Amino acid sequence: MNHLLSIEDLDRAAIERIVEQAERFAEVSDREIKKVPTLRGRMVLNLFYEASTRTRSSFEIAAKRLSADVVNFASSGSSVEKGESLKDTVLTLSAHKPDAIVLRTPWAGAAELISRWCSAAVVNAGDGKHEHPTQALLDVYTLRRHLGEISGASIWIVGDITHSRVARSNILAFQKMGAKVTVAGPPTLIPRGIEALGCEVRYSLEEITGADVVYALRMQRERMIESSLPSLREYVACYQINARRLSARQVLMHPGPVNRGIELSGEVIDSPRALITAQVEAGVVVRMAVLYELLAGTPERNPSQAPEPQLA
Ligand code: NCD
Repeated sequence: MNHLLSIEDLDRAAIERIVEQAERFAEVSDREIKKVPTLRGRMVLNLFYEASTRTRSSFEIAAKRLSADVVNFASSGSSVEKGESLKDTVLTLSAHKPDAIVLRTPWAGAAELISRWCSAAVVNAGDGKHEHPTQALLDVYTLRRHLGEISGASIWIVGDITHSRVARSNILAFQKMGAKVTVAGPPTLIPRGIEALGCEVRYSLEEITGADVVYALRMQRERMIESSLPSLREYVACYQINARRLSARQVLMHPGPVNRGIELSGEVIDSPRALITAQVEAGVVVRMAVLYELLAGTPERNPSQAPEPQLA
């Protein structure tokens, strides 16, 4: 694997390999000294053009636990504010010879594009409403730990499917792992033709009792151009996941950030059925596994970082 751009590029065996590597890394986080030397001397560049709490911090922690050097770049406060393009920014930062670039942008396809401009391994940390593959991998990891087996599980993804990159990556990943996926929400927030991905569609939560896993999504208002949303009151009344709609045998997931009181009620967020904190915890080990898969054991990507010639 040269890059991680999309779940489409991974088959079930590759997903399992990454998740199993993450399971092996879980023990590092419990050590007093939370570090292994695996990526010593390698450099990871985190390039974030959009807000992020979980993804950015966990990529940074993951790289540091593997002993890589980390450079964090946020577009605010950089020359992007002076008009520098994505391409020129990437070419400029590539001069520092990063081994991996972790990229989040509001533009679908940006990660794929930069993989053609530089020699580093590129990890897509969210490209517009297209994909967020490491989120899907950490969700598979979390569910496997919780359910034991994902195959055969019924997973409902509820909320703003149209503007969510998490929805797209997770529909693909959960199905590759053998789950049956249903997406549910208001018709304005479900893209026409989404069934082509293999999932079912519901416009009400009447049948949600059949789900083993309820995966709620935030309304991605930053990506809504038209007011595609019914009123928030109407949304809460018809689609909020609350104690009335979530039964004791179901588990609840959410990628964060949660808009408390909108897509989820406070009581379900704080209930033992919520795996939300476990998802965040999984973020570190799964991203360690992704960096490991891309960088460890592969020949050095930058010729300038090849081993020093032996002195006579
Ligand atoms: C998601 C994202 O940025 O796509 N957050 C995350 O990475 N955990 C979901 C969201 O912003 O709603």
